[in-house]
Amino acid sequence: MKKYLLFIGILTLVSCSKSTEKDLNKMDVFVSELMQKMTLEEKIGQLNLITPGSDIPTGSVVSTDVESKIKNGQVGGMFGVIGPEKIREAQALAVNESRLKIPLLFGSDVIHGHKTTFPIPLGLASSWDTELIKKSAQIAADEATSDGLNWVFSPMVDISRDPRWGRVAEGSGEDAYLGSQIAKAMVTGYQGDDLSKNNTVMASVKHFALYGGSEAGRDYNTVDMSKLRMYNEYLPPYKAAVDAGVGSVMSSFNEIDGVPATGNKWLLTDLLRGEWGFDGLVVSDYTSVNEMIAHGMGDLQTVSALSLKAGLDMDMVGEGFLTTLKKSLDEGKITEADINLACRRILEAKYKLGLFDDPFRYIDEKRAEQNILTVENRDFARKAATHSFVLLKNNKQTLPLISSKKIALVGPLANNKNNMLGTWAVSGNPQLSIPVLEGIKNVMGADVKVRYAKGANITDDAALAKRANVFGERVDIDARSPEVLIAEAVLLAKNSDVVVAVVGEASEMSGEAASRSDIGLPQSQKNLLAALKKTGKPIVLVIMSGRPLTLEWENENADAILQVWFAGIEAGNAIADVLYGKYNPSGKLPMTFPRNVGQIPIYYNHKNTGRPFDANNKFTTKYLDVSNEPLYPFGYGLSYTTFDYKISQSAEVMDAKNSITFTAEISNTGNFDGEEVAQLYIHQKVGAITRPVKELKGFKKVLMKKGKTATVDFTLTVDDLKYYHPDLSFTYDPGEFEFFIGTSSNQDFTGRFIVK
Ligand code: BGC
Repeated sequence: MKKYLLFIGILTLVSCSKSTEKDLNKMDVFVSELMQKMTLEEKIGQLNLITPGSDIPTGSVVSTDVESKIKNGQVGGMFGVIGPEKIREAQALAVNESRLKIPLLFGSDVIHGHKTTFPIPLGLASSWDTELIKKSAQIAADEATSDGLNWVFSPMVDISRDPRWGRVAEGSGEDAYLGSQIAKAMVTGYQGDDLSKNNTVMASVKHFALYGGSEAGRDYNTVDMSKLRMYNEYLPPYKAAVDAGVGSVMSSFNEIDGVPATGNKWLLTDLLRGEWGFDGLVVSDYTSVNEMIAHGMGDLQTVSALSLKAGLDMDMVGEGFLTTLKKSLDEGKITEADINLACRRILEAKYKLGLFDDPFRYIDEKRAEQNILTVENRDFARKAATHSFVLLKNNKQTLPLISSKKIALVGPLANNKNNMLGTWAVSGNPQLSIPVLEGIKNVMGADVKVRYAKGANITDDAALAKRANVFGERVDIDARSPEVLIAEAVLLAKNSDVVVAVVGEASEMSGEAASRSDIGLPQSQKNLLAALKKTGKPIVLVIMSGRPLTLEWENENADAILQVWFAGIEAGNAIADVLYGKYNPSGKLPMTFPRNVGQIPIYYNHKNTGRPFDANNKFTTKYLDVSNEPLYPFGYGLSYTTFDYKISQSAEVMDAKNSITFTAEISNTGNFDGEEVAQLYIHQKVGAITRPVKELKGFKKVLMKKGKTATVDFTLTVDDLKYYHPDLSFTYDPGEFEFFIGTSSNQDFTGRFIVK
C-alpha cells in the first residue's frame, strides 16, 4: 500500500459534487501526469469493462484470461465480482501487478437493494415517497460498498407506456415528472454529497435513451419518436439524474433517429455533454457496441470507432474497443485525442471515488459482516414494501381482514420464496425472503386461522416455465394435476370465511427479455379463480407482477384487490401487515392499467384529438369493442379510510414575477389513520402546440390520523409551465389553465388560472 501511495504521489481527496475549482485542477494535474506515463495500449485498456461471469472457478477470483488482462493493463473495470475477498484479490492484481498500478472500478446491477432486497423499482415508485426511495438507495449503497463495490448500474429511468415491455418493472412508470423526482432521489441516495466516502457509490443512470419506447413493447426493438416527444415526455428523468450529479450514464440498446444509442453522437455528445453539461463517464450496455453489427452499422472495427467518436467511453464486455481501436488509429479513423478523452473520463471517475488514494477503500470485510442484511435494513425493507402496495378495489371493506375469520390462503405465490424478490436481484438470496403464509403467521401469531392450498401452478405451460427459470426455479409444475390442485383449494375455500388468493407472474416473467403479448394472469390461475368464485366466498386477490396486468375479470369478480408488485425480502411480512390493517395502504399507480392489450399504449397525459370521444357520434376517437378509459388510471390507489378535499388558490393570475399557491385541506373522514398522496394536475387550454389533457405538476404524501385534517400546498411559477417548443426552446405560453388537486389522475378540473 505504501509503495502504491508513493507511486502515485500524495493526493488530497476531493468530493464529487462539492468539488471546488482547486480540487478540479488537482484532479486535472493528477490525471494528466498519469496519462503521460501511459502507453496507447494502457489507455485503451482503461476503456474495457469486463465480467468474468461463469468463468470464475470456485475459490479463485478470476479466470486466467481475466487475470492476465488485468496484469497487462487491459481492464478498466469489472462487474459480476461480488464480495470483499474476491474484489480485494482482483484489485490487488491491478494495483500490485499491472505496470502503472491503476485501480479498477467494480460495478454491479444493484437495482432495488443489494442483499437486502427492496420492492422492485416500479413498486418503490408506487410509494410516491421520494424520501423513502432515497433512503432505499442509501442503504443499497451502504451494503454494496460494504461488499466491495463502488459503482451501481442504477437508476433505470426509462419512461414507458407499454406494459408488454418486461422492463417496466425496473423503472418508475409512465410519467416524466414523477420519474424525474425519483431519478433525483435515487442518484442523491447512492452518491450522497461525497463520492469518495466509503459508503457511497457512483450511480449510472440508464438506459440512455428512450429504451422504454420500443415498438410493440418487444425488448430491444426499434424506437422512433419526434424530438418534441423526446424532450417533453421521455428525456426529463435522464436530465434530472444528470442535474443531480450522476457520475455515469449507460447507453441503451435501441436506435434513435436511425442510429443505435451507443454510437449516436447527437445523443452522447451534443445532447448529453453539450446541452446538459454532463462531465462524467458514458458506459455502453452489455455488448451494445458489438450489437451495432446486427443493427447494420458495419463490422466490429467500424462500430467501435463510431461509438468512440460518438462519445462512448467504456465498452461493456464486448471488447470491440480493446481489439480494434489501435487499428482504427493507425488507419486514421479515430485520433489519439479521442482515446485520451475517454480514458481521462474513466480515470477521473476513479479519482472522484478516491480509488487512487486508497484502491481498497471500499473493501472491508468487517463492514460487510456488520452492515449487510441487518435487522434495521430488513425493517426498512418491510416498511418500503408496505408503502409500495396499491389497493385497487375494496368492496364493502373486505379488507382489512378480521383476525377471527377463517382464511383460505391459496394460489401459486402464497407460499413461494422463489418469487418474492422480483427481477434484477442479482445479490439477493430468495431463500432469505418471507413468503405470505409465513408472514401472516409472523404478524398474527401461529394460532391465526389460516390454511393454505397451492391451487394452481403459476403456469401450466412448460415452455413458458422453462423461459422463466433461467436464473433458478421460479415456476415449478406440480406433480398433481391442475384439477386436483383446484379441487383442494375449492374445498378449503368452502370451509373458510374469506379466500385470499395470491396470484400473478413468476418474477422472471417481467424484467429484461421478458416481454409478453398477453398480460393477463396465466390460464392456470384464471381457472383457479373461476372455480373459487363459484364457492360464493368473498375473494381477496393479492397480485404479484412486474408490470400492470389486464385484470377486467378480476376487477369484476373479486371483492378486494391488492397490487403488491414484487415486494422483496420482507414481502410476506409486509403483505400480512397490510392485509390485517397494521398498515393502511397508501400506494398510487405510477403506470396506467389497461383493460386489454389492444388499448396499449395507454397513458394519462395523452393529447386530445380533433374528434374527442363522444359516445353518440360514430366519427370520434374510440374503439368499437372497448372503452377508451383504462381499468385503473395513473395516480390511482385506495385506502382503508376516505379523504375529503377542499381546494383553494392564492391568486387567479400568474406572471413572470408572481407565483400561485394551490392548497388542499384534506380531511381523513374514515375509520383508519392513513396516508394520502395529494396530486396536482394542470391543463393548458391553448398552447403554441397541442398540450396534454393533463399533466402532473406536484405531489405530496401526508399522514392524517382519523378525523384529522392536513393542509398541503403547491406553489407554481411560470418556470413550472415551461415545455419544449418546436424550435426546442424551453419556454411557457401565456393563456388559460385548469387545475385540480386530488387523489388520482382521473378527476375533473375544479379551478382555473391565467398566465400573463
Ligand atoms: C442490461 C443492463 C445491465 C447490464 C449489466 C444489460 O443486459 O440491459 O441494464 O446493467 O446488462 O448487467
